[in-house]
Parts: sequence; structure tokens; C-alpha cells
Amino acid sequence: MNLSGAVEPAISLEDVHIGFEEGDVLRGVSFEVYPRETLILLGETGTGKTLTLKMAAGLLKPAAGRVRVLGEPISEMPEKEILDVRRKIGFVFQEGALFDSMTVAENVAYRLQEDHLPDEVIEPRVREALRFVELEDAIDRLPSELSGGMRRRVSIARALIDRPPIVLYDSPTAGLDPVTSQTIITLILSLRDLYGVTSLLATHRLQDGFALANFRFNPEVGRVVPLAANPGEERSENGGGTRFLVYREGKVYFEGDQHQILKSGDPYLNRFLI
Ligand SMILES: Nc1ncnc2c1ncn2[C@@H]1O[C@H](COP(=O)(O)OP(=O)(O)OP(=O)(O)O)[C@@H](O)[C@H]1O
Ligand SMILES: [Mg+2]
Repeated sequence: MNLSGAVEPAISLEDVHIGFEEGDVLRGVSFEVYPRETLILLGETGTGKTLTLKMAAGLLKPAAGRVRVLGEPISEMPEKEILDVRRKIGFVFQEGALFDSMTVAENVAYRLQEDHLPDEVIEPRVREALRFVELEDAIDRLPSELSGGMRRRVSIARALIDRPPIVLYDSPTAGLDPVTSQTIITLILSLRDLYGVTSLLATHRLQDGFALANFRFNPEVGRVVPLAANPGEERSENGGGTRFLVYREGKVYFEGDQHQILKSGDPYLNRFLI
């Protein structure tokens, strides 16, 4: 909370612009993600979703505008200070982005090794993270020996190893079959509901967002259950709901909840329904 008593966003973009020689990609984008909320960022290929996530992680600076993360103006900070903020952000890169020459364990341990933590601390943490994504058996394998879905799961384990309050997911189900996609979404749900993670998820698939909006992980029964089965648990806008944001031609074209998308009848939004 800030001095006025309002909840501060976990992530905010204020009038962000970014572009390259070929032209502007984002031309004045503003939005917020509140603590424990899930924001689904939809947009066709090349609309700037990955750029947005990279700016939120401080890996890239906007040409104009400001990005704040956990109250820190990450877009204006020197690299050394950004590192402290980045520790609080897990990043599941598009295509997983694992180090090919490292084992699964080494990939997952990477961040902890950077911090020079002793092996006896690292090992159980790595096992715990891999157990969470149900890949403990693959601990000594190389990424090349895994399926696409398994690689994505290793990438999630790597992102959660530091128990970050924010996780950015870049197209986590792209290129996966429906069953494997469901497994990934279930993991994202569990991470969110067990650890109260704030999630910003870029995707082409509206159904990923619907799954996140309509299901929750129930620790009492140890599995994902429909939200409707728990009346009264509908989360408020600032307390863990799921919102959708659609990019189009460098701007925010739509922002709202799933009901608003479904009711809109907007042909552009309908493209994401398939
Ligand atoms: N380093 C770069 N140099 C030049 N152009 C870039 C660079 N990085 C991104 N772009 C361009 O910026 C635009 C947005 O890229 P971005 O990767 O954010 O798209 P995206 O929405 O994530 O697309 P996809 O759904 O295919 O992942 C694209 O046209 C891309 O070619
Ligand atoms: Mg992308």
C-alpha cells in the first residue's frame, strides 16, 4: 500500500513506446498488473508481447515512458540496481531458452549458483522445484533429451527456484499439443494459487486465459478445481482476478475480463478464440 492507502501495482507501464528501424512496435501502452492478479496479454505475432515482458524484467528499456516493478522505476535504473529487482521476477522465456550444454539440474540451479549458495542448500531446492513440475526423474538429463513440454516445465522450475513474487510467462503453451498445454496451465495455476504469484502471461491462445480465469488450485484436495464450485471465492479486481489485455497496432485495443471478451462480439477479439 502507498500513503494514500491504495494498492500499488506489482507491474505498471506508463505510456510506453518502443520501436526499431522498421518502425514503432508499441506506441503509448499503459497498463497495470496488481499483486496476485493474472494478466493475459494477447496479440498477434509481432505486436510486441515479448518486448513488453522483457521491459517488465528490465532486460530492455523503452524508448519513452516508464516501467515500474514492485514500486521501482526499473526502466530508469542502472543495471546494478535492476539486478535486485530482477531477483523478484521469474521469467519463462518463449521456447524455454534453456542452456543446452547444462543438465536439467544445472539449468534450474543457475540463479542460486550465481548467488554462490552452497551445494547443500541448492540441491534440495532444485529437487523441490523439479518435483513441483513433476520432473525430478529428469534431473540429470540434457535439454536435448527432453520433449518440448518437458523443456517448458524445466523452464518453469527454473523461474520459480527463487520463489519470486512475480512470474512472466512468454507464450508458455506455444507449439504444444492440447494435453501438454493443459499440464503447463495447471502448473501456472498451482504456482499462482499456492504461492500467491502475480502473473503476466503472453499468449495467442484465449483458452489459456479462460483456464486461468475459471480454475484454481485447491491445496486441500491437491488438484485444480473450477472456481464456480467455490462460490464467494470470486476474486476482486485487485486481489487475484484474471484480466485480459489485447494489443493491436502498437496500442491496447481491449482491456477487460473474460465475460467482456465473450460478450463483445468483436471480430478482432474473436480471432483469438480458436
Ligand atoms: N532486437 C530487435 N531488433 C529489431 N526488431 C525487433 C527486435 N526485437 C523485436 N523486434 C521486432 O519487434 C516486433 C515485436 O516483437 P515481439 O517479439 O515483441 O513480438 P511478439 O508479440 O512477442 O510476437 P510472437 O507472438 O511471434 O512471439 C517484431 O516485429 C519484431 O520483429
Ligand atoms: Mg513473442
